[in-house]
Amino acid sequence: MRRIGLIGGGGIVQRTHAIGYQALVAEGLAEIAALADVSEQNRAAAGQLFGIPENQRYADYREMLSHAPIDTVAIATPHALHVEQAVAAAQAGKAIISEKPMAVTLDEADAILAAVERHRVPYTVVHNLLFSQPVLGAAALLAEGSLGQPLLGHGQMLGNKPVEMTRSDLDWRASKKMGGGALIDSSYHEIYTVESLMGSPVRWVEARLATLKFPAIDVDDTALMTFEHDDGRLSTVHAAWHTRGPAHRGRWVWINGAEGALRLVYSDDAPLSRSVGKGNHWETVDAAQLYDVRPGLAGDATGHGAYLRAAVEALERGGPMPITAAQARHNLAIIEAARQASAQRRGMEVDT
Ligand SMILES: NC(=O)c1ccc[n+]([C@@H]2O[C@H](COP(=O)([O-])OP(=O)(O)OC[C@H]3O[C@@H](n4cnc5c(N)ncnc54)[C@H](O)[C@@H]3O)[C@@H](O)[C@H]2O)c1
Repeated sequence: MRRIGLIGGGGIVQRTHAIGYQALVAEGLAEIAALADVSEQNRAAAGQLFGIPENQRYADYREMLSHAPIDTVAIATPHALHVEQAVAAAQAGKAIISEKPMAVTLDEADAILAAVERHRVPYTVVHNLLFSQPVLGAAALLAEGSLGQPLLGHGQMLGNKPVEMTRSDLDWRASKKMGGGALIDSSYHEIYTVESLMGSPVRWVEARLATLKFPAIDVDDTALMTFEHDDGRLSTVHAAWHTRGPAHRGRWVWINGAEGALRLVYSDDAPLSRSVGKGNHWETVDAAQLYDVRPGLAGDATGHGAYLRAAVEALERGGPMPITAAQARHNLAIIEAARQASAQRRGMEVDT
């Protein structure tokens, strides 16, 4: 059984990780043994949610690393904190499950890689959508072959952010110092999802980043990217914080194959559809029935529950981890290439 200490117990932990942890705890596969959060309010809320004893709720994560009865940490804090927290956890000999992104820069990612290798601790980053039913279904649909080879991929995450995000000092996601921005925060999942469904690593990136709506923030609120995959096929990924309208489908992925297309709209009741041959309509696909897709955990729309299960099972087995440090670094390398491509107004090769 894994004894997990949470570093950060805010929104994603209380709303979404909780679904996965509660199932793992009920099956005796994990215990949420401790929590570290600088916010008294979130310490109390997450502490209560997971039944963590008061003396195992810490304000300082370093105190938790030194004193709590844990073998694993789950990091879910603002992006700029990931590097120091992951390195400290590795030094303390803890296995690490980190929320995305691995870190903010490639230098930080390499510092984490060096620390987890030096201290021989398992490390994985949450790429949850790859474990969600719609994406598993899309992967199975592509593997089945009726759509032909994927030629063109699209992914988008368009949202309308709340008023706090209009100032960098009000929301860490809108702050450069905290590692925020639409590119790293909002397009992160579409980058790995499109790449995975296209089945070929992204090697070249062209991009434009801009701050179009919120002039008082010091990060991008808009990110447009074009990818060339290793084998020459192409994809685009878009993210923006100001573009949602009535009935707008905020997050979707579309893959065009040689013989048909698939469309994945996360907010739809039936998220996965396909259009095959000359048909000019979308046909709903029930991936769980048509393909070999494991039934998901109830309420686990984002795949966090399935991902956390895979991570805990891998830790119990002694590896390999469901998403490796190298995979997470690659996603960050695509983001870094997009930053450089936008700044230099030219295509950039992804650092390997
Ligand atoms: N995979 C996904 O779908 C997904 C979705 C949302 C968020 N996330 C990721 O989860 C992480 C957290 O996001 P969130 O939405 O929960 O943010 P949040 O602001 O709701 O929560 C962050 C928590 O970290 C705490 N914190 C800040 N500084 C700390 C420190 N020094 N030590 C300990 N705790 C500290 C805050 O008090 C807060 O409780 C980010 O990396 C984000 O990108 C992932």
